[in-house]
Amino acid sequence: MTLHPSGTTRHLHLRAAGTSVVLELVDDLLPVVRHWGADLGELGERDLAALSLAAREALGDSPFDVADAVGILPEHGRAWIGRPGVEGSRAGRDWSPAFRTTQDVESSTEADGTRRVLARAADPAAYLGLLLELELHPGGLLRVRATLTNTGQDPYELGAVRTTLPVPERAQELLDFTGRHTYERIPQRQPFSAGVHSREVRTGRTGLDAVHLLCAGEPGFGFRHGQVWAVHLGWSGNQQTYAERLANGARVLGAGEALEHGEVRLAPGEQVTTPWTYAAQGTGLDEVAGRFHAWLRSRPHAPARPRPVTLNTWEAVYFDQSLERLTALADLGARVGAERFVLDDGWFGGRRDDTTSLGDWVVSQDLWPEGLGPLVEHVHRLGMEFGLWVEPEMVSLDSDLARAHPEWLFSAGGRRGLESRQQHVLDLGHPGAYAHVRDQLVALLRTYDIAYLKWDHNRYLNDAGHTPGGEPGVRAHTLAAYRLMDELRSARPGLEIESCAGGGGRIDLGVLDRCVRVWASDCIDPLERQPIQRWTFALLPPGWVGTHVGSPRSHTTGRRHDLSFRAQTALWGHLGIEWDLTTATEEDLQVLARWVAFHRRHRALLHGGTVVNGDHHDDATWVHGVVAPDRAEALYGVVAVRRAVSGPGRVRLPGLDPDRRYRVTVPDPGDEGLLEERPVVPWARTGLVLPGRVLEEVGLPMVPLHPEHAHLLQAVEVR
Ligand code: DGJ
Repeated sequence: MTLHPSGTTRHLHLRAAGTSVVLELVDDLLPVVRHWGADLGELGERDLAALSLAAREALGDSPFDVADAVGILPEHGRAWIGRPGVEGSRAGRDWSPAFRTTQDVESSTEADGTRRVLARAADPAAYLGLLLELELHPGGLLRVRATLTNTGQDPYELGAVRTTLPVPERAQELLDFTGRHTYERIPQRQPFSAGVHSREVRTGRTGLDAVHLLCAGEPGFGFRHGQVWAVHLGWSGNQQTYAERLANGARVLGAGEALEHGEVRLAPGEQVTTPWTYAAQGTGLDEVAGRFHAWLRSRPHAPARPRPVTLNTWEAVYFDQSLERLTALADLGARVGAERFVLDDGWFGGRRDDTTSLGDWVVSQDLWPEGLGPLVEHVHRLGMEFGLWVEPEMVSLDSDLARAHPEWLFSAGGRRGLESRQQHVLDLGHPGAYAHVRDQLVALLRTYDIAYLKWDHNRYLNDAGHTPGGEPGVRAHTLAAYRLMDELRSARPGLEIESCAGGGGRIDLGVLDRCVRVWASDCIDPLERQPIQRWTFALLPPGWVGTHVGSPRSHTTGRRHDLSFRAQTALWGHLGIEWDLTTATEEDLQVLARWVAFHRRHRALLHGGTVVNGDHHDDATWVHGVVAPDRAEALYGVVAVRRAVSGPGRVRLPGLDPDRRYRVTVPDPGDEGLLEERPVVPWARTGLVLPGRVLEEVGLPMVPLHPEHAHLLQAVEVR
């Protein structure tokens, strides 16, 4: 088998935090990724050339007389026989581009250590230009994207632009996620079989059933073992994430926007840039998560101040808003230690239930005759920030907006799309609609001191076409929603935005370029929240994920749980309270205040630490925690998600420094139950000092746990 046409070949070896990326640059062809995986150490050009050759031969048979090249943008013209990187045509022509670089591939290192590679290329026959960008962040997160330019005289109709990354043959198992309202991020595993495993979103938002992370790994990979490679598309609109395995052994993970027919028609000279495909590899899912966390924490908009404990009014009062009720709630919130008060749905227009008024972002005169001022001032007097719920992309038919501008609602093929939660979607790609919402929201931000917006998005987009022609509008809408968030953040410096979409329906690194919190789920039953949070934290740092203490009986499942379990579940993320505290007992208020105080005392660790999960031997008991970056301390939760045949047994505590010694205790207020009901483990009272290696390898004996209860453990280095 001949290899690529001979000529100059050079290599780039990018290294960061346990990750190596080896790019082969052959002549003027697009860069080929010969290795993305564990750090390979120092390698000279000769080693890299040999590695490159070895990686190429490992691919086995090629149906062509040249070896397959697994590019970042796969090309049929370069012997890739799977999904192409570009789909499109100019009236049936130019549909199979083969790019040649137009100048040397550039590589640079940014001030923060990020390695950046740019490849500029063109296909003069297909009249297309291409810019490929690849970045390896200091925390080991890799991201790639492509910009395609129409250099011809006629429009180019685009079907897709996808970017891919190769994974080795030993990545034999796939893990991704699905879900639904109140039940997000359900993991699903399957073999990485031949063909394409593709997850498509055609509903205009990331989705309650979002793929979240598409992981390929060694069989049985867990949190702490097995090599794993994962990708995520930073995009909130229609999208596609896939794993593809060819008969010759090649395996790639890929992603791109899912475009509707006619959605992107590049006029001469026009270009389109794909969303970033983010990628991380490591030993076990914890290491992969750590790379995503490091990335988000390094973003310029990442919160620099402690995450304020939030009281949200939704499950406390729903639409039953009044100054009297809400000031009473705010008083109790402040008493238990809340630092932010968020007024949820129901404050605007004629909104007394979910049938009306979306689009009319004006404070309800009936409910709030003096405006929101008295409530905002009351909240501020209590020392809390004020936050407000909005759903800017939506419109009720019963609204002044829909009556005045029916042409701003999405419709396709001359018909208005189906209703969902009795609401429609406003076409934010329409300049008039955009300006209307922006002006109303800016007016609110100017009138009141609003530190935070909970930005909701309660329905899918379907038949999302511009009125009247019906041209597909999801892409324009998604970009407009991003722009609106950016404009509001400039209009009110310091404004924080939470991404909520009927719970966790818009959690992606696109929206998180402008948001600092997500609402993980409308279900705050702690038993359901355990897996939802576990898997949401697989992508996002806990401080970016809203985790609330709900009422004793869950509103979404009807289950009852002790406050200790509700609080211990919510403790780990951006803590909130979503419970009508006016119905809580005095004892509950006191216990809740202790949990809030505990969270506030430890939130630097909770939100700045390394997330760890134990691969516990029995799935009835979950062990998770956070370890301080300097590994001087850690907090762990030991959770009985159901009854175990033989109790939790020994619990191994991951992530500590093997050579340092730690005192493990059951901290206040996490001692409820453990010390009072079952004081059978002596170390729980006195603490126990052991090296990190022993704690991770041997573990600690735990008392049997009641199902749907948890213990909290604290490990502090003993010097
Ligand atoms: C869905 C959100 O997820 C809830 O928290 C709440 O804000 C409601 N929408 C309000 O309509």
